[in-house]
Amino acid sequence: MPVAAAQDAKPAALDLPEGAAKSVVVAQCTGCHDLSRILNANHSAGEWRNVVTMMVAAGARLSPAEKDAVARYLIESFPERAKPHPVVIAGQVQVSFREWEVPTPGARPHDPLATPDGALWYTGQMANVLGRLDPSTGAIKEYQLKTPASGPHGLVDDGAGHIWFTANFAGYIGELDPKSGEVKEYQLPGAARDLTPCCSTVMACFGSPCKTPTCSAASIRRPARSSS
Ligand code: HEC
Repeated sequence: MPVAAAQDAKPAALDLPEGAAKSVVVAQCTGCHDLSRILNANHSAGEWRNVVTMMVAAGARLSPAEKDAVARYLIESFPERAKPHPVVIAGQVQVSFREWEVPTPGARPHDPLATPDGALWYTGQMANVLGRLDPSTGAIKEYQLKTPASGPHGLVDDGAGHIWFTANFAGYIGELDPKSGEVKEYQLPGAARDLTPCCSTVMACFGSPCKTPTCSAASIRRPARSSS
């Protein structure tokens, strides 16, 4: 086989171990990327469940029963392999980490922002929310955005109590008033989202060349624009 062809060879369904949900994986997990994402991954059971939740949030079409079956199949077929352990280097600095679990699984929390009131904000990119953590109590409040699949990403605080964000998938800048939960949207020119929009789900082209058969100009679905 020529070298270039060997390098381009994509893993095929043949590379997947047998199992109850193999056919669902072949049918539902190869539209946006190939199987190398699965074959090269190294995840604990909990991480696999999170991956499947994230993929459903991204647009993978699985019923709740299939979602569970796919997670079980992945957990059984691809058990976690040993990973290198971190090495603690002795020194004068003491560092500790605290973790808070965000309320929506698969939200893909992004871009933490500390505000002067002591809160910590994040964008839940795949769950279409902005979140606010109060580290003193551990309470987290999530604010749902009005345009579906906005894909909120970076955050800034304007010093007057409003939180501004970039809506990565929908192509607008948003301004949240945390007191009322109201979001104002400032639309960007149509091509801001990307240069070659395609696919029936906003996420389908994210990170990898789009391979879905629905990828045609007719299938571009943009969220409705609001005039505010
Ligand atoms: C609608 C598109 C879409 C579908 C369908 C899809 N994925 Fe993904 N997947 C993505 C995107 C986008 C990424 C890259 C996310 C990133 O790396 O930031 C990804 C990344 C991954 C990764 C690597 C990330 C990690 O943490 O290991 C795995 C594994 C994965 N997908 C598994 C699956 C499985 C299993 C299915 C079927 C249930 C599936 N995908 C279906 C869009 C999709």
